[in-house]
Amino acid sequence: MSSNPTIWRATVLTLFPEMFPGPLGVSLAGKALASGLWRLEARDIRDSATDRHRSVDDTPAGGGPGMVLRADVLAAAIDAADAAPASSKDRPRLLMSPRGRPLTQSAVAELAAGPGALIVCGRFEGVDQRVIEARGLEEVSIGDYVLSGGELAALALIDACVRLLPGVMGSQESGADESFSDGLLEYPQYTRPQVFEGRPIPEILASGDHAKVAAWRKAEAEALTRTRRPDLWAAKGGQEGQKTR
Ligand code: ADE
Repeated sequence: MSSNPTIWRATVLTLFPEMFPGPLGVSLAGKALASGLWRLEARDIRDSATDRHRSVDDTPAGGGPGMVLRADVLAAAIDAADAAPASSKDRPRLLMSPRGRPLTQSAVAELAAGPGALIVCGRFEGVDQRVIEARGLEEVSIGDYVLSGGELAALALIDACVRLLPGVMGSQESGADESFSDGLLEYPQYTRPQVFEGRPIPEILASGDHAKVAAWRKAEAEALTRTRRPDLWAAKGGQEGQKTR
């Protein structure tokens, strides 16, 4: 069997394959999945267990609480995905983990521009360090909080990538204006009714003056970023706001 190398592909290695496609089966991502704009394959790590109990984890070397995902079992699962018809060999290999590099919109855009990803979902207290090194897994975090497993993190990462694939987003939503695309949070949006509970839509938005609207939106985005995300504001240089006023 051959596979189309141009289609963006996510191969997920998990102990809970039934969690996929989950939310990725509906809405924007789900429609795109159904129409063949991207592919998703969830593979059960347990299928690579070799003992009669099909065990995938064991107690941590050196003692301590919890269980650790075995290096040999996970390596066999990765190798099986690499050997499958739609081989994961030429795709980035990610391990969802709270100790990974924080995921950013630019990293998402880079992943979306590539062939897809092999995504390993961690469980238990962690994954044997040797398989991370031996299979070149790049650890990725979706935030400074701990989920009970990497599956929800993988779903978030895949969703963020898929919406950037050509043909997935509606024509008017280029993605160019949204939060983070230019290092700023998005400006506030309004729609009908004209007055809601005594609050009118900002007058300038009804002015029909596109340049004024754009300037207002830019100033709002900058003010929001400055107050809510001083880290993003500092990364942008932090002076542009003053220049526009
Ligand atoms: N697994 C558990 N917590 C996670 C997080 N914050 N990001 C990515 N994977 C995780």
